[in-house]
Amino acid sequence: MVTKTRLKVEVDAKADGASSFVVVPTKLGAQTLTVLDNRTGTLYEVPISDGTIRATEFKALNLQVHLGNSEVFDPAYLNTAVCRSTICDIDGENGVLRYRGYPIEELAEKSSFMEVSYLLLYGELPTKSQFFHFNNEILRHTMLHIKIVELMKSFNFDSHPQGMLISTIAALSTFNADANPALQGQAIYQNPRIRNKQIFRLLGKVPTIAACAYRHRIGRAYNEPKFGLSYTENFLYMMDHMGEEDYRPNPKLVKALDVLFILHAEHELNCSTAAMRHIGSSLVDPYCAISGAASALYGPLHGGANEAVLRMLAEIKTKDNIPGFLIDVKNRKKKLMGFGHRIYKNYDPRAKIIRQIAYEVFEICGKEPLIDVAVELEKQALADDYFVSRKLLPNVDFYSGLIYKAMGFPVDMFPVLFTIPRVAGWLSHWVEMLQDKENKIWRPRQVYVGEGKRAYVPIDARKEGSNIKIQESTER
Ligand code: CMC
Repeated sequence: MVTKTRLKVEVDAKADGASSFVVVPTKLGAQTLTVLDNRTGTLYEVPISDGTIRATEFKALNLQVHLGNSEVFDPAYLNTAVCRSTICDIDGENGVLRYRGYPIEELAEKSSFMEVSYLLLYGELPTKSQFFHFNNEILRHTMLHIKIVELMKSFNFDSHPQGMLISTIAALSTFNADANPALQGQAIYQNPRIRNKQIFRLLGKVPTIAACAYRHRIGRAYNEPKFGLSYTENFLYMMDHMGEEDYRPNPKLVKALDVLFILHAEHELNCSTAAMRHIGSSLVDPYCAISGAASALYGPLHGGANEAVLRMLAEIKTKDNIPGFLIDVKNRKKKLMGFGHRIYKNYDPRAKIIRQIAYEVFEICGKEPLIDVAVELEKQALADDYFVSRKLLPNVDFYSGLIYKAMGFPVDMFPVLFTIPRVAGWLSHWVEMLQDKENKIWRPRQVYVGEGKRAYVPIDARKEGSNIKIQESTER
C-alpha cells in the first residue's frame, strides 16, 4: 500500500533566487521507494517487493495522465515485468542462460531435447520411468488426421513453410473439440490431465506438420512418422526419407540438430513467448495460442532473423564486401542481422555453442563457404566502435542458419526449425500462467493523444483536400 504525506516546503533564505527545500522523513533500510511529486509537495512511499514496484501502486500517485489514474509508460516493454516465473533465468550483462537453474552449456552437452522439454514443463529432470512415459506419449501423438494432411496439400506450391505451419497449428484447434474452452467450459485447463493431453499432441504433431510443409515445398509425398526413432531422428526421417529401405538419418546430424533444439527451446519473455502468454490469458485453446506465438516468431527481428542472416551473407558474398556493408549498416541503410539483443549485452551463450557445432557439422556435410564471410563479419563488427559502444554482439541466429544450410535445409525452413523446439518453451509458460493465482486476462493501457470530442460532419459538408490521402495502388 502506498502511503501519502504532504510536505511543508520552506524557502531557502541563504540561496540565490527562488530556491526551496523540504525535509524528507526517511526510514533507512525499509523496503520502500520514496517518490516526491514536485508539483504538489506530496511524498509517496511505494513498497518494493522482489526488487520490483507494482505498476498498480502508481495509480495512487494521481498524475492525471488519463482519467485521474497514473500509468507507467513503457513502449515495447523495455523495463516491465509482467509475471513471476521459475522457468528460465537470463543474466544478459554476463551472458548467462539457465533453464530451471541448469546452465545451458551443461544441458547442451549432456541432455536431450525431450529431457529438456520435460524439465521446462514440469520443473525437474525426469527419472527413467517419467522420461519413458513422456517420450512415448509424445511420439504416440505424431500422426496427423487425414483431413489435416489434405488441408496442407491445398496450400500453394511455393507457400512459405512457416506460414503453412502457423495456419495448420491453428487448424488443429478445430480437430480437438474436447480441448475447446468454448465448448467444454473455461475451467478445462485447470485439469492437469487435459493440459498434458494438449502438450503431447502439440509437441508430437508440430514436427510432423513442419516436415510435411518441407515436403510440400519440394514437391514430394509426405512421410508418415516412424516409430522406434527418437524425437529429432523421427523429424529428420520425415524430412528426408525418399523410399530407401531401413533409412536412418545420420546420428551425428541428429545429435547436432537435437542440441540446436535444446538451445532454442526457451528464452523467457521474448516477443513470441509474451504473445503466447498474452493470447493464452484469454483462456483460448493452446492450438490458437501457439499459432499466434509462432506468428510472432516469424518476424525478421525475432525467429525470422536466421533466414535473414543467410540472405544477408549471400548478398555480401565475399569478405571484400564486408567494409562497404558495415558502412551501410552504420549509415542505417542496412541492419546487421543476427547481431544485437534486447537482453544480452554480452556474447549470447547460445551463439558460442552454435559456432562450435557449425564446424562439427561441416566435417560431415562439407564446409558451408559463407562461414568465412560470417566469421570475418563478426571480427570486423566487434572491432568497430559502432557495435562495441552499443554492445551489439552475435545472437543465436548469427550462426544457426549456416549449420542448417550445410545440413541441406532450404533457407525458408529456418524459422520452422526455430519454432519446433520453442513449442516446449511456449507450453511451459502456458502451464505456469494457468497455475498462477495472480494471472488475469492481459490488458495493457495506452496514453491517448488523439482528438478530443468532436461533432460528426456529413459527407457532403466535408471539404475536399482536407483529409488524409490514401495512397492508391499503382498496380491494376
Ligand atoms: N544492426 C545495426 N544496428 C543495430 C542492430 C543491428 N543488428 N541492433 C541494434 N542496433 C542499434 C540500433 O539502431 C540502436 O542504435 P541507436 O541507439 O543509435 O538508435 C541500438 O543499436 C539499440 O538497438 P535497439 O533497436 O534499441 O535494440 P532493441 O532491444 O529494441 O532490439 C533487436 C533488439 C534484436 C530487435 C535488434 O538488435 C535487431 O534488430 N537485431 C537484428 C535482428 C536479429 O538478429 N534478431 C534476432 C534476435 S535474437 C533471437 C530471437 O529473439 O529470435
